[in-house]
Amino acid sequence: MLTRRPRRNRKSEGIRSMVKETILTVDDFIFPLFLIEGENHKEEVVSMPGIYRYTLDLLMNEIGECLDLGIKSFCLFPSLGDDKKDSMATEGHNPEGLYQVALSSIKEKYPEAVLMTDVAMDPYSSDGHDGIVRDGEIINDETLEVLGKMALAQAKAGADIIGPSDMMDGRIGYIREVLDDNGYTDVSIMSYSAKYASAFYGPFRDALDSAPKFGDKKTYQMDPANVKEALIEAELDFVEGADFLMVKPALSYLDVIKTLSENFDIPITAYNVSGEYAMLKAAAQNGWLENDKTMMEMLLSIKRAGASAILTYFAKEAAVLLKK
Ligand code: PBG
Repeated sequence: MLTRRPRRNRKSEGIRSMVKETILTVDDFIFPLFLIEGENHKEEVVSMPGIYRYTLDLLMNEIGECLDLGIKSFCLFPSLGDDKKDSMATEGHNPEGLYQVALSSIKEKYPEAVLMTDVAMDPYSSDGHDGIVRDGEIINDETLEVLGKMALAQAKAGADIIGPSDMMDGRIGYIREVLDDNGYTDVSIMSYSAKYASAFYGPFRDALDSAPKFGDKKTYQMDPANVKEALIEAELDFVEGADFLMVKPALSYLDVIKTLSENFDIPITAYNVSGEYAMLKAAAQNGWLENDKTMMEMLLSIKRAGASAILTYFAKEAAVLLKK
């Protein structure tokens, strides 16, 4: 006779729910949102069905709906016309710029919302890179000054969490110092610590029209082959003052999420990126995968791997399902 029968713990819904190790809740989600210039307009991102780029007035309504569903945290990304882009990403720290104005208006209307930002030059850069470009190279240390200005402008506009996604060396320490020197000691930093040079960012670059104008991002984003390098990046970010460490993308990097969560005692977050969203949407539209169940399984697996919060385009859909 078999003495160990693991199936006994799966025999009914009641028992299955009793032994469940991982539970997904709406508190786990950070919802990325795309902002465009203008008024009373929204447009769907072609490669991300169900995800829109909103003008600020309509974005306000969207955030209101999300708050009603229990989503408390949002990460904003700006999509700018070419006329607002230059080689130094100047618009990125313009206090009157689209992004800064949006942050302060949202904070004013919804003070309870947690606003996370993105710090990198690409949405504002005529080169489409995350750092300053000179003679085809990405210049690290001079880029830090631009990132520091962006972070400060965002903190002044009311951001709760600064999210450096650029992968320059030394950015966390530099930004922490700029924030502290200006009295923003309570503004947090969620570092995109292990950000890989991934093909899964394609739909996002469509949404922001931010693809690099030449080359790729492999001299600053990490090689998908490496995990020890993620430990080095995470260690530096921890020492330099990050409050959260992020892994990006999520689904092909669950081992990295697990490794960081076992080695660091600050929260590990994961970015379930645009391509991961697009893959499921495409399969679901073809009737090849069942959208809701697959979505919940993806999100659950990211949490099971060790992520305490997930940036995901599925946030609103998943929140509606969880409410039922
Ligand atoms: C920009 C940035 C990117 C994403 C977030 N911030 C793209 C990139 O590095 O090219 C990707 C997010 C997604 O794919 O959902 N620094």
